[in-house]
Amino acid sequence: MSQTFFIETWGCQMNDLDTQRLSGTLKLRGWQRVEDQTLASLILLNTCSIREKSEQKVFSRLGELRELKAAANGGVRIGVAGCVAQQEGEKILKRAPWVDFVMGPGSVGYLDEILAGQRTIAVDFPDDRRYDHLSMDRPSATKAQVTIMEGCNKNCTFCIVPTTRGREVSRSFDDILIEVRAAIESGRVEFELLGQTVNAYRCPTTGRDFGALLSAVASMPGVARLRFMTSHPAEVNDSMIAAMRNHANIPGYLHLPVQSGSSAVLRRMKRLYTREKYEEIIARIRTAIPEIHFSTDIIVGFPGETDADFEQTLELMRRIRFGSLFAFKYSPRPGTPSLKIGPPVDDAIASSRLNRLFELHEEIKREFLDSYRGRVMPVLYEGPSRHDPEMLAGRTDDNWVVNFKGDPRTPLGSLVGVRIDQAQHHTLRGEAIA
Ligand code: 5AD
Repeated sequence: MSQTFFIETWGCQMNDLDTQRLSGTLKLRGWQRVEDQTLASLILLNTCSIREKSEQKVFSRLGELRELKAAANGGVRIGVAGCVAQQEGEKILKRAPWVDFVMGPGSVGYLDEILAGQRTIAVDFPDDRRYDHLSMDRPSATKAQVTIMEGCNKNCTFCIVPTTRGREVSRSFDDILIEVRAAIESGRVEFELLGQTVNAYRCPTTGRDFGALLSAVASMPGVARLRFMTSHPAEVNDSMIAAMRNHANIPGYLHLPVQSGSSAVLRRMKRLYTREKYEEIIARIRTAIPEIHFSTDIIVGFPGETDADFEQTLELMRRIRFGSLFAFKYSPRPGTPSLKIGPPVDDAIASSRLNRLFELHEEIKREFLDSYRGRVMPVLYEGPSRHDPEMLAGRTDDNWVVNFKGDPRTPLGSLVGVRIDQAQHHTLRGEAIA
């Protein structure tokens, strides 16, 4: 019988991608992926530590696995991968001695050595990250996510990422094009370039920047849509904006985390821009691409955030009118400079600020979604709708999910014209037009 593995993934797209690499590597070696952990001879937890809650979940999962491990009587190995592995390292083995190995995000390319028992703790960042685009286990037949850089050289005072994913390392231009080419040949039409600060990309051999890479990938025949995640405001430049404007297959959608609307808070966060500067960047992009849909990340309750600071965040939300919002209460992370920035914001106050922000955003999103009614939008068909198998589902150019009536024989990955007739809570509804 072949060896079997079960893998569970938390966190961001980078972690999803690490799972695709881990799973692909194992499958290439003859392992079989199972969806039931009790059938697995290897259990991998690919973990996230961006906020305290995600980290706690890992330890409660490990608690559950203790019994499974005891019952299996040596028949199962447990590995902790991802950012909690990087952050806690050896401490995981002390706290949960039934764990067999701990491997951080820098060690995904070293799975063979780890499984061979040569290392039980792999938490360094080797210069050679070993990207093997052939061993990606991509969950979608139409979409491919491609890592273009890893790590982060910014020092935002709240953030654990520089610790868990190391310094910035970009892959070479040609390596990325080879991976995209191979994915096109396997039928993928939609691409997402990924990096923690994706627009800080610089080819290590030629120095070409993110805009140049965007243009090169967008020009490849067969690329119907090209997305990217996550951009840092301070790294937005003319070459990136020009690429977005000049290529019809690069969506009118940009996720641009602002974190706060108060320049005083932004300074303490070390975000490298003021609120005015952020608005200026947005205005520059809107001038070039008027129909663009912006989404953002916001942290409320950062140490020292006053009511007046928070009012400025609300004000920014009203001015920019972000279509989508990912907002979080500040969560203290081990070793980050924000721990010493104080004074902490009372938890009840932070919660009420978060609620007010969501309420305001709900109104904005409602207006936003309502404005699509009656319009015909090109939708990239991704498969049957999750909630209603009679309906088809896909995404608009500017990243809204659309559930629509249409021909179920429509080939996956085709662009369909859909007349939007209804705005739902987070999604749009419509009908394919002939
Ligand atoms: N507390 C709360 N939210 C955080 N984020 C990053 N670090 C923290 C933290 N310590 C949020 C930021 C970031 C998103 C991925 O997670 O908004 O953009």
